[in-house]
Amino acid sequence: MCGIVGYLGAREAAPILLEGLRHLEYRGYDSAGIAVVANDQLHLFRRVGKVKNLAESLNGSLPKATIGIAHTRWATHGVPSESNAHPHTDCTRSLALIHNGIIENHASLRTILERGGHRFCSATDTEVLVHLIEEHLRSADDLETAVRRALAQVEGTYGIAVISTHAPGTLIVARKGSPLVIGIGRGEYICASDPTALAGATRQVIYLSDGEMAVISANGLVIKNHDNIEIDKDVSELDLELETIERCGYPHFMLKEIYEQPDTIHDALRGRLLECDGRANLDGLREVMPRILASRRIILTGCGTSWHAGLIGRYMIEQYARLPVEVEYASEFRYRDPMLDERDVVFCISQSGETADTIAAMRESLNRGALGLGICNVVGSTLARESDAGVYLHAGPEIGVASTKAFTSQLSVLALITLALARERGLTKEQGKTIIRELKSLPEKVSHILEHSEVIQQYAREFQDAENFLYLGRGYGFPAALEGALKLKEISYIHAEGYPAAEMKHGPIALIDRDMPVVVIAPQDKTYEKIIGNIEEVRARNGRVVVVANEDDPWIHTLSDYVIRIPKTLDMLHPILAMIPLQLLAYYIAVLRGCNVDQPRNLAKSVTVE
Ligand code: G6P
Repeated sequence: MCGIVGYLGAREAAPILLEGLRHLEYRGYDSAGIAVVANDQLHLFRRVGKVKNLAESLNGSLPKATIGIAHTRWATHGVPSESNAHPHTDCTRSLALIHNGIIENHASLRTILERGGHRFCSATDTEVLVHLIEEHLRSADDLETAVRRALAQVEGTYGIAVISTHAPGTLIVARKGSPLVIGIGRGEYICASDPTALAGATRQVIYLSDGEMAVISANGLVIKNHDNIEIDKDVSELDLELETIERCGYPHFMLKEIYEQPDTIHDALRGRLLECDGRANLDGLREVMPRILASRRIILTGCGTSWHAGLIGRYMIEQYARLPVEVEYASEFRYRDPMLDERDVVFCISQSGETADTIAAMRESLNRGALGLGICNVVGSTLARESDAGVYLHAGPEIGVASTKAFTSQLSVLALITLALARERGLTKEQGKTIIRELKSLPEKVSHILEHSEVIQQYAREFQDAENFLYLGRGYGFPAALEGALKLKEISYIHAEGYPAAEMKHGPIALIDRDMPVVVIAPQDKTYEKIIGNIEEVRARNGRVVVVANEDDPWIHTLSDYVIRIPKTLDMLHPILAMIPLQLLAYYIAVLRGCNVDQPRNLAKSVTVE
C-alpha cells in the first residue's frame, strides 16, 4: 500500500527520503515520487515503477534542499501513471502533498473546485485535497490553518504530509485512519507512514493519533488535536535494527523470513511458559482474563493469512478450553450489524496492526461494549494502541508481502492463549505440561524441516508449470490447506484452492486429472484413514498427490511418489509444522516461474484502505 516519508532538518533531504522509500518498498506499490522546496521553489519528480527508477531519473537534477516529501503509491483511484503518482500540486505549483487513505467525497469536492477555476491533472482522490488547501490559503493566515480547514471538509481516511513555498521551512503532517509516525533525530525530523522507514535514522518516535496534526519547523514540533489544542505526546523508543529489515544474504525477504521461524516461534513463546505449573503466562491478558473466562463466546477476526490463523485458533480453543468460538472475516463482521455486547470477547488478529477492516472491526467491537483484544506484531500499531489489551508476536518486521513467520507466530500465540484459558477450565497440570513440552520442541522441529528442503525444491521443479492446484486437509489440516493455497496463489499466480478433504466429492473432484496437482495434509490423527481414502480417490482419477505426512508414517510412500515428511507433534500444533513445507513449495515454484516473490503484483503488505 501507499507509503509516506517526509524530512525536515539540516541534512540534504532527497537521499534520506529515497532511503525511507526503499524501506517501504515491501508494502507493495506501483509508482513513486518526491518533492522538495529549494530556493523558494518546488521541485517535483514522479515515476511509474520502482523507487530505483525514480532515483535514477533524478540523476543529480534535484537542487539541494533540507525539506521534502516522498511517496510510494498503490493505485486505488486512477491507473498507475506519472500524473497519478504523488506528490500532487496545486494550480500554482506552490504546494506539494502526499496522501495515504481514501477521500470518499472527492467527486463532489472536485466538482466544486473545478467550478471555482481549479485545474486538475490526475484521476486521483488525493488531488482534491491539495486544491482545497490552495483554496483555503486565499483566506487563511498560514499554511497550518489552510490545511486544517481543508481537512475539515474531507470525508474518509488520510495520512498526509504537505510542504509549500509559502512556508518553505514548514512540514505539516496529519492523520485520520492512516498511520503516521514522527521520528525525532538530532536537529531533524523524519515522518513516515510506517516506522520501518525510520530504521537506521532514529529511535525516538511519536505516533500520531486520529485527528492530530503536527507542524514541524526549525523551531521544533507542535502537535495539535482535533480541537486545535496543543497537546503533549509521549516519545516512544523504536526497537528496530537496520539489519532486521535487510536480506542478510538471502535472495528474498520471504525466504529469510521462512528460515527465521525457529527463532520467531521461540520468541513468541519466550518468557510465557510456566513449565512446572503447566500454564501460560500472558502479561498482556492478565487483567482481562476473568472477563474472557466469563464471556459467552469468543470471536476471532482478521483478514487474509491472519483470518486463517483465527480458523486454527478456533479449533484450538474449542478443543482444549471448551469455550464457544466464532471466526469471521473482519470486512464482513464490521458491516453486517453483528450481535455483540459486553458479554463477548473479540480478538482481532493482524500482523501489521494497520489493516483497515481489522481496525474497523476492533472499533465496532469496542463501541458495542465487547472486550476488544489484539494479537499483532507491530509494536505501537493502531490496533495495539486502540485495543483493550492484547498479545504481541515479537516476530520482528515481516517484509515479504506474503505472510510467513507472522502466521506461525500467530498460531504459537493462539496456542498460548488456549493453554491459559484451558488451565482455568479444567485442563490438568500434566496435560498443560504436555502442551508446553510440545510447544518448546517446535523450533527444533521447524529447523529440521528447513534442513531438508531439497525434496521440496525438487517437487517445485516437477510442478512449476501447473495452472491449478488443490490443497486438502481435515480438522486442523483444513485451515492449513487454505493457507497453503493462499501462499501459492499470492506469489506464483497459480490458481490454487483449499478445501476440507471431505468436500472434494462435492465439486472439486470434477477437476482432477494429471494436470492438477493435489496437496494433501495427512497427519496420523483421528482422520488419517479418511484422508487416505481421499488420496485414493485422487489417484483413481489419475491425479498426482503431494502428501505432507508424518516422519514415521510407514504406508504413505505406497500411495504417492511425492511425500514431504515432517516431525510428529500435537494435532493442535501440527499446522505450524505443516506450513513450513507449504511456504517453501510456494516460494520455490514462484522463483522458478520468475515471479517477484517479495512484492507480488497487485498485492500490498498492509491493506490500509477498505
Ligand atoms: C494483506 C497481506 C497478507 C495479510 C493480510 C492481513 O493482504 O498481503 O499477507 O495476511 O493483508 O494483514 P494483517 O497485517 O492484518 O495481518
